[in-house]
Amino acid sequence: MAEIGTDIEKARAYLEAGQLVAIPTETVYGLAANALNPGAVAQIFAVKQRPHFDPLIVHTDRLEKAMQWIAAIPAPLQQLAEAFMPGPLTLVVPKKDIIPDIVTAGLPTVGLRIPSHPLTRRLLASLNFPVAAPSANPFGYVSPTNARHVEAQLGEHIPYILDGGSSQIGLESTIVAWNEETQKPIVLRLGGIPLEEIEKVAGKVMLQTHSSSNPKAPGMLSAHYAPRKKVFLSLEAALRIYSPQELGAIVFKEPLAVLPVANQLLLSPQGNYTEAAQRLFAALREIEELPVKAVVAPLLPEEHLGRAINDRLRRAAASA
Ligand code: TXA
Ligand code: MG
Repeated sequence: MAEIGTDIEKARAYLEAGQLVAIPTETVYGLAANALNPGAVAQIFAVKQRPHFDPLIVHTDRLEKAMQWIAAIPAPLQQLAEAFMPGPLTLVVPKKDIIPDIVTAGLPTVGLRIPSHPLTRRLLASLNFPVAAPSANPFGYVSPTNARHVEAQLGEHIPYILDGGSSQIGLESTIVAWNEETQKPIVLRLGGIPLEEIEKVAGKVMLQTHSSSNPKAPGMLSAHYAPRKKVFLSLEAALRIYSPQELGAIVFKEPLAVLPVANQLLLSPQGNYTEAAQRLFAALREIEELPVKAVVAPLLPEEHLGRAINDRLRRAAASA
């Protein structure tokens, strides 16, 4: 069973020995391994039961350090890096050969992220290699936003969980790549930085967040973030199958009038997107414990972090 603690030295020792460590980030917890060690990275895929076609993001503490492993960054992406790193942004950039193919699923590009979580920044600063880290959950499941979430699902398979409290952002990083044809940035995953903020820096960007038409982000399967209970985006659709007593809900600001209040989780009574994002993944786990058969999760307004929240809700509803 994994030890949970705040010992950066211990985390470093495990990573240097080619073992896995769960690390806190401001977005979600990651399952980290030395990205330059293919054997260590292979364990990530095994523990998560993740298909090898789904590339990993590499993490380090400073952009200058990252230049050892990546080739030149296109200027508009460089501007995004300056604006949002460290923070919940991943840039997909050309990689150098030193990054093994297993990390990038054979792609010539690599996802680069510089997390802002202080504990993890100190850990990364103490390492002379980047860490590959997907979210620390079994493949297809909701991402963990605290150490207990990781322990519950992966605790048996890893030696150490670095405990950095609850993730402040609560949604995975926004992923931005470079489109050679249009010479414009392209958003591959909505996440912790709202699209509006990206566009303030980079101008109008294209969105390509579904894998069916997008071989560039093979991990963005539509049925992701799957809780074990069926999720409905529409109350009417849920009520065609279930009675109000059989339904729980995850709602933005106000409980749904027709359902029992005790079975409803409010993301942000004040209607604050940041708070709603922080709570979303924990709520998707909490509904498993409610005495209900299915869950209603109405979409939020399609703006700011509401977009990324809706993306996750749609994926949760698409599964099961
Ligand atoms: O916030 C986050 O990004 C978290 C924390 C731990 O950093 N990590 C995370 O990793 O969400 P993961 O593995 O759950 O999602 C990574 C996704 C892949 O599924 C894929 O869609 C995309 O990033 N990706 C990674 N490398 C890529 C590449 N070279 N080209 C296109 N997409 C890539
Ligand atoms: Mg993930």
